[in-house]
Amino acid sequence: MHLKLIHTNDYETISQLTGEIILSLIRSKEKVTLGLATGSTPIGTYQYLVEDRKKNGTSYQNVTTFNLDEYVGLDGNHPQSYRYFMDHHLFHHLDIPTEKIFIPNGMADDLEEECKSYEKAIREQGGIDLQLLGIGHNGHIGFNEPGTPFSSRTHVVKLTENTRQANSRFFSSIDEVPSYAITVGVQTIFESKQIVLIASGESKAPIMEKLLTAKPTEELPASILKNHPNAIIIADKEALKNVNFKQLDESIVVEYK
Ligand code: F6R
Repeated sequence: MHLKLIHTNDYETISQLTGEIILSLIRSKEKVTLGLATGSTPIGTYQYLVEDRKKNGTSYQNVTTFNLDEYVGLDGNHPQSYRYFMDHHLFHHLDIPTEKIFIPNGMADDLEEECKSYEKAIREQGGIDLQLLGIGHNGHIGFNEPGTPFSSRTHVVKLTENTRQANSRFFSSIDEVPSYAITVGVQTIFESKQIVLIASGESKAPIMEKLLTAKPTEELPASILKNHPNAIIIADKEALKNVNFKQLDESIVVEYK
């Protein structure tokens, strides 16, 4: 099993490479299902796709998307909801048919039922072709915090203080950050045909060093990528600055871009 690590100079290169991976999939396959993330890291990738659409008119009529997560209690008009984020950064600029855009509904009356029907919708699409991921400072993927079973599926989570604190930069105070979210599970992510995890900036250096040296463990949810047959990490030199490349396991193949 090999994990590909693409070492880039800067954030722009991460965004360009990730954008091109997504575009080549869309161009080469008749029907594509993407798993998408929010957060700061994918913004450049989304800008790249929006620019491409303006320049080349790439069609997204045959694209279905499933977002990883959503806060419980925020509707799509709330500026901090992930639905709002995605509309603003991506969906309003592309032509993905509305009925093919899926984001967990954090306002559902029955959250358990919402989780089940989200899993069912992914299954009915034949699974996710490409899952885009960011990584939290504690190694979370989606809202799967350390200790989440690798076997987990879409579920409701109580957010850790660490994550609420990290996300409070988008709210006027930490009290406004929701305490619960719906997230796609680790197993659901793992079943994607391809996974691309992106990481940028110095603040990610400690967790990237851990991720690249750790054996797969539920204490570090992103380490599941090491068990995946088709996973790529794309990171810039700041995010990789703590990594001792000479001591990396030989299962990690490094490419410089
Ligand atoms: C968001 C998500 C989170 C983020 C992670 C990193 O949908 O899934 O796991 O990817 O918190 O966030 P940024 O990119 O803001 O550092």
